[in-house]
Amino acid sequence: MNERIIEFLKKKDGYVSGDAIAQRLGITRQGLWKHIQELKELGYDIVAVPHLGYKIESIPDRLFPFEVTRDLDTKFTGKKIHYYEAVPSTMDLAMELGMKGSPEGTVVLAETQTKGKGRLGRIWFSPKYKGIYLSLILRPKFSPQRTPLLTLLSAVSICEAIKEHCGIDSQIKWPNDILIHNKKVAGILTELNAEMDEVNFVIIGIGLNVNNEKKSLISGSTSLREAREEEISRVALLQEILRRIEANYIHFEQKGPKVIIDKWREYSVTLGKRVKVYSHREHIEGQAVNIDIDGGLMVRKDSGLTVKVMAGDVVHCR
Ligand code: BTN
Repeated sequence: MNERIIEFLKKKDGYVSGDAIAQRLGITRQGLWKHIQELKELGYDIVAVPHLGYKIESIPDRLFPFEVTRDLDTKFTGKKIHYYEAVPSTMDLAMELGMKGSPEGTVVLAETQTKGKGRLGRIWFSPKYKGIYLSLILRPKFSPQRTPLLTLLSAVSICEAIKEHCGIDSQIKWPNDILIHNKKVAGILTELNAEMDEVNFVIIGIGLNVNNEKKSLISGSTSLREAREEEISRVALLQEILRRIEANYIHFEQKGPKVIIDKWREYSVTLGKRVKVYSHREHIEGQAVNIDIDGGLMVRKDSGLTVKVMAGDVVHCR
């Protein structure tokens, strides 16, 4: 009901009488008043003036599922959203949901994480109401070996969404760091639940710094607000990310990985650079010459030998 009240008030410019709302939504005036109090507690600024009625002054910057799903024209992505104020990590909840059979496109969303997980055992700093922290369940029909491509696909989708929604150019550092002016704005963590030759489900974890102020950013990172010098609507940006992921994913399933790889190359800051790749206990140095069809980075060593790296951390040398 809260959702319908908000929708009704948003459509009107001025004040709407309590009678009109109550009648339209089939509730009593006392019932309406109770819902208005609940909405105020959620952060909606609703003013009530005797004889005039109610008017919505502002909506809070919260990722409430009904705000996210409204106008979200995807087929399955984000149709089911599990929303939390605070969780240890959205990855763990998504993993549980995946194992219980939650459908493809299910999203776990949190306003903050107390144990946000980054790649290679790192922590993902998740200040409340500032970023987008989500885990998305996908159930691709391809072999486990192809899942790294979903990470690349997500990275491309985030760059596209940032450009579309904020007008900002971003780049991808292999495998999946999103950078603006060489500082990290987003990261992706992919977890897999699979048999030998079949994927049960994949969790795409996305952490994006949106409205973080400079003082709350860790060294080497940035936020969209810093780059654009204004607050960004997290709801609209999140909707664009979900749209882009779904569009690229459907394309990938129908036509194969080439389009994704080609787009990834366009956004890459790694290709052409001299790199050091720290993977497992070894480190490889050379020229990043290409990305393979399965998402591996091809590095030409000084010896002339080209090797493929599937995981690790890249440092750009020059
Ligand atoms: C990286 O190290 O670059 C990957 C960071 C991924 C962070 C996201 S935030 C939402 C999801 N939940 C987590 O605990 N981690 C991912």
